[in-house]
Amino acid sequence: MSEELKRLALPNGRTKYLFFGGKGGVGKTTLATTTAVWFADHGYKTTIVSTDPTVSLSAMFDQRIGGEEAVPINHVSNLCGLNINPQDAKGVFKKRLNSLMGQIKDSFGSDGISTPCAEEMATFDQFVSFLEKPEGDVIVFDTAPTGKSLRELAMPFDWAGFMQKQIEEGQKFAGIMGMDASSLEDLDRDKRRYDAALAVLRDRATSVFTLVLLAERLPIEETHSAVTGLDKLGIPVQALVVNQRILPEVIEGNRFLAARAKLQVKYQGEIDARFGDFVRTSLPLLDRDVSDLSTLRHVGELLYGA
Ligand SMILES: Nc1ncnc2c1ncn2[C@@H]1O[C@H](COP(=O)(O)OP(=O)(O)O)[C@@H](O)[C@H]1O
Ligand SMILES: [Mg+2]
Repeated sequence: MSEELKRLALPNGRTKYLFFGGKGGVGKTTLATTTAVWFADHGYKTTIVSTDPTVSLSAMFDQRIGGEEAVPINHVSNLCGLNINPQDAKGVFKKRLNSLMGQIKDSFGSDGISTPCAEEMATFDQFVSFLEKPEGDVIVFDTAPTGKSLRELAMPFDWAGFMQKQIEEGQKFAGIMGMDASSLEDLDRDKRRYDAALAVLRDRATSVFTLVLLAERLPIEETHSAVTGLDKLGIPVQALVVNQRILPEVIEGNRFLAARAKLQVKYQGEIDARFGDFVRTSLPLLDRDVSDLSTLRHVGELLYGA
């Protein structure tokens, strides 16, 4: 178990936001759901939010988890789940954006709304509302594979910049163009919302970004690029979990396993050398997949203790 990872994740009188990112298939959903169940089992009011538009969360808990509102998870007290679906959120956001932009159509145009970024904006908008009114002790995010999450996080920077420009120009031309001052107030309010949300993400005491990886070359490179990308946004990565390590005691003379384990030891050395500043933890490769509550609880004990 990792005392250090647990110390990072424990709520400290305020709601704690725990993010699990990384390359596809490395174990983000496994880590996020394990963490959420562990905290809920230990009496913390917990919500797990997936921003990955797959059915992983519903499949993991064997119940329908939608995007409208958080639903209580069966057989786990204190735990609710929500699946933010960019497609669903898009409609809501588009409507709001349309009314907001009604008066500034010429400079933004309806084109802006159908850019490929609209989905990320919509997801982020729903995500921002979580950071605005924290409820409960722990909110765990199972994020989409690295590249997409980064775009989601970077979006409000462009968006806040765009709004800032509109506000400044709006103030200059409002009189001449006969613009309604209230639409500027809406823009300003949104900008402040996004700025506040980013401040939450950048606060090491409130938000903890953990990257999950395997002791292999490509996940290591992807981890490096995620760390760099998040750093550019002013968001610090605090921990790494190296998943699926082959433990010496399971090798029992098997040459195939021994070869894989040897490779992992080499790459673990590289991880330690390149990411020495982060809290590092590993999880063993299990003899089964992680797809039911009892296995999630088992992994939770390995990670955070009984
Ligand atoms: N330590 C582990 N031992 C055995 N199987 C694992 C382990 N970690 C993850 N898995 C399995 O690997 C697959 C991918 O994990 P998942 O958490 O869905 O990855 P991601 O969310 O990053 O795409 C799942 O089938 C999961 O059950
Ligand atoms: Mg997943």
